[in-house]
Amino acid sequence: MAATGPVPFKDVDDGDVPAARDPKEEFGDLVVALPRKEQFLVGRLYRGFWLPEPYAPGILAFRRRFTPRPDDVVLTSYPKCGTTWLKALAFAAMARDAYPPAAADHPLRRLNPHACIPFMEDIFTERREAKLERLPSPRLINTHTPYSLLPETVTTGGGCKVVYICRDPKDMVVSLYHFLRRLQPDLSFADTFDSALDGTVPYGPMWDHILGYWHASVARPDRVLFLKYEDLLQNTGEHVRKLAEFMGRPFSAAEEAAGTVASVVELCSFDKMKNLEVNKTGATEGKYKSMAHDSFFRKGVAGDWVNHVSPEMATRLDEIFRDKFRGTALT
Ligand code: A3P
Repeated sequence: MAATGPVPFKDVDDGDVPAARDPKEEFGDLVVALPRKEQFLVGRLYRGFWLPEPYAPGILAFRRRFTPRPDDVVLTSYPKCGTTWLKALAFAAMARDAYPPAAADHPLRRLNPHACIPFMEDIFTERREAKLERLPSPRLINTHTPYSLLPETVTTGGGCKVVYICRDPKDMVVSLYHFLRRLQPDLSFADTFDSALDGTVPYGPMWDHILGYWHASVARPDRVLFLKYEDLLQNTGEHVRKLAEFMGRPFSAAEEAAGTVASVVELCSFDKMKNLEVNKTGATEGKYKSMAHDSFFRKGVAGDWVNHVSPEMATRLDEIFRDKFRGTALT
């Protein structure tokens, strides 16, 4: 194992890691008292956001108990906006000394990106947070928690950095629908779309989720990096450079000359990742919701919404976002 981080979370020995306090004991009463909405997943409204009920106590425990290190990087996203890709790119770029991206034994060729970078909702729900302490620095961690609900130690703390990725909401809804249908084959696209429109979609409203991170990135650009999936698709290399620099690991002239950026892009490309044996088989480890690895790799394009969303539906969603984003530079 590499002496410094990041190392794949799955490779960290957790044999005798003690279980943390059960977040349901600590926050269960608070959660059951919150407004409830039965969408395709049950949601609980906490401080303006519809948290997935099974994760709500864990999110509150993360908020209360997580202690960041100054060199941690927190990868954040709205679900289905490119989390898996961001995890792969960040891991490959950040760990490139220990794991050269072109190497045949790179961890991302044997592990799904979600096995490399821990998802806080799973970790705190499953009481496995002590394992986080075993990760060598710098650590990469991941969450869908809205900015305003992140631990204060992250948003006001000294060094910790945050990277956010979002996407055209219409493509996100289509992606979410296909993802959830793996769990609920009778789910209708109309219901999924309606819950995006009324804001009750998991971690919604989407516009407030995006705005929280947007405003933070404007106020603290050295601490919060705001990315868009479509921009990454258009010029992945440029964004890998930006990401690496933001995380404090800029590519050197020698690495540029050696094609290291291109190797990172190639290793994490949709076609490469989708066709790896590890991503065609198996499932994530989350006990609450284990997802088949292949469900994280569907089409990997921008604009697939045209195959599902009518022009009228598209206009309705676009208008809400236009209205909510008025006065910001967000489009
Ligand atoms: P589609 O369903 O539109 O194909 P998340 O990782 O946040 O769950 O997002 C999943 C979306 O990102 C899916 O979109 C998936 O195909 C896409 N994706 C996953 N890996 C990718 C990669 N390496 N490059 C580009 N897109 C990727």
